[in-house]
Amino acid sequence: MELTGRVVVVTGGASGLGEHLVRAFAREGAHVVVADLDTAPAEALAAALRQEGGGATGVRCDVTVEDDLLALVTAADALGGIDVLVNNAGGWGGAEQHYPEAPPEDWQAVLALNLHAPMRLLQLCLDGMRRRGWGSVVNVASSAGVGTTAYGSPPYAVAKAGLVRLTTALAGLQDEGVLVTCLVPGWIGLPRAHAELAALAPPERQASPELVPPEIIAAEAVRLVRDRVTAGTVVELLDGAHRRVVSPDGAGAAPG
Ligand SMILES: NC(=O)c1ccc[n+]([C@@H]2O[C@H](COP(=O)([O-])OP(=O)(O)OC[C@H]3O[C@@H](n4cnc5c(N)ncnc54)[C@H](O)[C@@H]3O)[C@@H](O)[C@H]2O)c1
Repeated sequence: MELTGRVVVVTGGASGLGEHLVRAFAREGAHVVVADLDTAPAEALAAALRQEGGGATGVRCDVTVEDDLLALVTAADALGGIDVLVNNAGGWGGAEQHYPEAPPEDWQAVLALNLHAPMRLLQLCLDGMRRRGWGSVVNVASSAGVGTTAYGSPPYAVAKAGLVRLTTALAGLQDEGVLVTCLVPGWIGLPRAHAELAALAPPERQASPELVPPEIIAAEAVRLVRDRVTAGTVVELLDGAHRRVVSPDGAGAAPG
């Protein structure tokens, strides 16, 4: 499926994995909306892509603020409406205290960013996607949201597990042309991760899974959308370039 001219919104698109996602969709000829809390880098990235001949718009948006989400959808409507939503903004902010010690407002903020915001933005995109009979949503979850080991930020793990289940629970939207899929990255090979890994003691470093190249995650996001991969598909990228695809139709079940 041709992505030329499709309007792709990437939340948290100004830096980190988001920047890789933005650049990957821009290379496909999409018009990418870089939606980020941080205005200057969002606009700078969009301007750089326009200079390279692509279509891109920077929009300041705190995904946890309803008015910002409404403004984002309005801005994208002016471009023709959101065809593809990449729910990428997320994180737990490196808080010192976590549930159950942290006060409710702290852990509710983690749920707001990582679960409520992607659910709400998806909801806001749905009318237009249904009308056009075409849409894709890619949720960016995390290895924190799968598996059974203890995790430092339970609200983050819960929210990311919720995103995985949201994806599978919404598979029925495929009947209306809207495909919701999910990426589950392990520790992403962004510059700060390389630095953190290098700072670990050798035994810890050896025990750590390989960093996942952000380019591979971004390429996978493009593949999910461009190839109209079955709704409800969850792709785990937990260790280096290894990939595990869990698909409702079993199509991508083999590791590859
Ligand atoms: N970094 C990792 O190793 C890792 C591993 C697994 C999953 N993830 C997930 O991947 C996604 C991207 O991670 P990252 O490490 O690139 O993120 P990051 O912390 O580097 O942030 C990326 C961007 O999100 C923006 N942002 C933060 N809060 C926002 C908000 N409320 N509204 C809009 N934009 C906001 C920031 O300004 C930044 O530009 C997240 O959902 C994260 O949970 C990351």
